[in-house]
Amino acid sequence: MNRRLAALISGRGSNLQAIIDAVTTRRLDATVAVVLSNRSAAPGLQRAREAGIETIYLSPREYPDRDAYDRAIAGALQAREVGLVCLAGFMRLIGRPLLDAFPNRILNVHPSLLPAFPGLEAQRQALEHGVRVSGATVHLVNAELDAGPIILQAAVLVLPDDSVETLSARILEEEHRIYPEAIRLVLEGGWVVEGRRFVRRAR
Ligand code: GRF
Repeated sequence: MNRRLAALISGRGSNLQAIIDAVTTRRLDATVAVVLSNRSAAPGLQRAREAGIETIYLSPREYPDRDAYDRAIAGALQAREVGLVCLAGFMRLIGRPLLDAFPNRILNVHPSLLPAFPGLEAQRQALEHGVRVSGATVHLVNAELDAGPIILQAAVLVLPDDSVETLSARILEEEHRIYPEAIRLVLEGGWVVEGRRFVRRAR
């Protein structure tokens, strides 16, 4: 599989950093070819520059609608011969033009054990629901929000005195651990999507 990665970010980029670190230390045999953001001030862009990675800022306001914006992203990534797209805190829904350009080639990390607590503020949702266990999920992206086939998950205990901040911090550690690992599994190949399941064939 083409091992050129794109990371799409909107914010601080700590998952991007975890991917960069995994590549640098050779735990992940891949190249981060480009980092793209919908926000010019995303701190993650600076992390990319420091790692010598090309950055692209595409302002959604300069496109008439969501499809046009997604087509622009797809075009930019295809021009750089990207094989896998990693959403890393990219705060936008992914529409058809981008999904069709990278079918089963877009990954996302989410701070809950999906299908529990999709959408925004998953850690707050978990605390308010009173669950005893939450965690992190890496999944393939499809047209439904946070609902694509699950590649890896990690559980995190919710402690009685947790705040959104303390729970988020422990979940984030797991995100950083499983995201590069999930990318490695996807790049390794030998998997299929059966219904809504990501199935690794016996090797
Ligand atoms: C992470 O919690 C991720 O699960 C969610 O957005 C946050 C991004 O954090 N999708 P960072 O920008 O990678 O630090």
